[in-house]
Amino acid sequence: SIEQGRRVFDLLVANGLHEFHDETATETIGINAPFLGPILSAHAGEKLRMNVGNTLAEPMTLHWHGLHVPAAADGGPHQSIAPGETWSPEFDLMQKAGTFWFHGHQHRKAGPHVWAGMAGVIRVEDDEETAVALPRTHGEDDFTLVLQDRRFDAAGQMPYALNMHDRMAGMQGDVMLVNGQIGPLLETDAPLVRLRVLNGSNGSFYGLHFSDNRTFHQIASDGGLLAAPVAMQGSVLSPGERGEFLVDLSGGEAAQLRAEVFGAEVMMMGTAGTRDVMEFRPRAARRAAALPDTLVELPPPPEATGEERDFSLAMTGMGMMGDFTINNRRFDHDRVDFSVPLGATETWTWTNTTPMLHPMHIHDVQFRILSRNGQPPAAHEAGHKDTVLIRPEESVALRLSFADYSDPVLPYMYHCHILEHEDAGMMGQFTVA
Ligand code: C2O
Ligand code: CU
Ligand code: CU
Repeated sequence: SIEQGRRVFDLLVANGLHEFHDETATETIGINAPFLGPILSAHAGEKLRMNVGNTLAEPMTLHWHGLHVPAAADGGPHQSIAPGETWSPEFDLMQKAGTFWFHGHQHRKAGPHVWAGMAGVIRVEDDEETAVALPRTHGEDDFTLVLQDRRFDAAGQMPYALNMHDRMAGMQGDVMLVNGQIGPLLETDAPLVRLRVLNGSNGSFYGLHFSDNRTFHQIASDGGLLAAPVAMQGSVLSPGERGEFLVDLSGGEAAQLRAEVFGAEVMMMGTAGTRDVMEFRPRAARRAAALPDTLVELPPPPEATGEERDFSLAMTGMGMMGDFTINNRRFDHDRVDFSVPLGATETWTWTNTTPMLHPMHIHDVQFRILSRNGQPPAAHEAGHKDTVLIRPEESVALRLSFADYSDPVLPYMYHCHILEHEDAGMMGQFTVA
């Protein structure tokens, strides 16, 4: 609703029962729904007020992943909501058009909370994006797909019970879900569809492709449109990452979306296999819609004005909880690791000394990738990002600008978005002051 010039969203977090499999009620957590939350839509520049009500019997938080907001409104581990309480942050939506999301971020509980269903999507539009000829009719030619996988027990429940492997590699399942549904079929009249895809899994990476290996185009990364559509036959999304894609259905043939599913330890263990995600079935062949040649003006990454910081990702011991570190430290809720001066543009370089994949996420900012092992980023990674995959032995340099909001006390997080790594302490915090 709109009240006093603000767009107000009421988000009620509650235990639920959801039917993933016919006639089986699975215990879940949802937001205004039994499993997952709504897809919120807002326009850049609007003032948002989020009323987050916690009806659970335990504390929780809700974090606006990818949004540039004051630390007090961020919804990280320092904005815990007690059972029965409502948290109502307000902030200006200072984003480019794109696909953002929100999810639980309670200290040591991000894994179980998201696994149970505590997540939703925020679609942001702006005038720049509206000026480009793109599909944008929600539910007709523009679809939001939250991809996750889950493991069900014999009773059809999805308990969050971590075994040794899950602790090491992250929680994974063998059943693919799209917006909480197994293997949906989408019939459409649109010759060109836009898919806003979120990897909302705990610990699974998805190598997305179509069964006929058709070419599709990526048009946006985490934080907004790319300079031009990037043609591809496959796209890897790490936990937390988003991609927007255009898929040409004008030929009238059904398109089966598939995912090669793998975990953080893919270098040692290989992939878990290829799974069907969902099918797109055009009702008829239509005249092919033209793809725009260019999307938005993407300026080069801003010049550095501040510090260079190095982050080393490491693993000590094998398979024990809490073995993942950043600069040899595990997360400490009471320790702020460093402070960034408000207004600074910095360079952060992430080096992975572990044999595992780590998708690193930084709150407050949309950053730009400068280089991967010294090489400039590929076109689909050259835009606005908030989560970046760091492979074993890679060193990835980012450029980040810290503007608008400062807080001498309340920090922002940076962490691995494999939620089991985050919960085990692969996280740090910084203030902007
Ligand atoms: Cu999507 Cu700190 O998280
Ligand atoms: Cu975030
Ligand atoms: Cu990790």
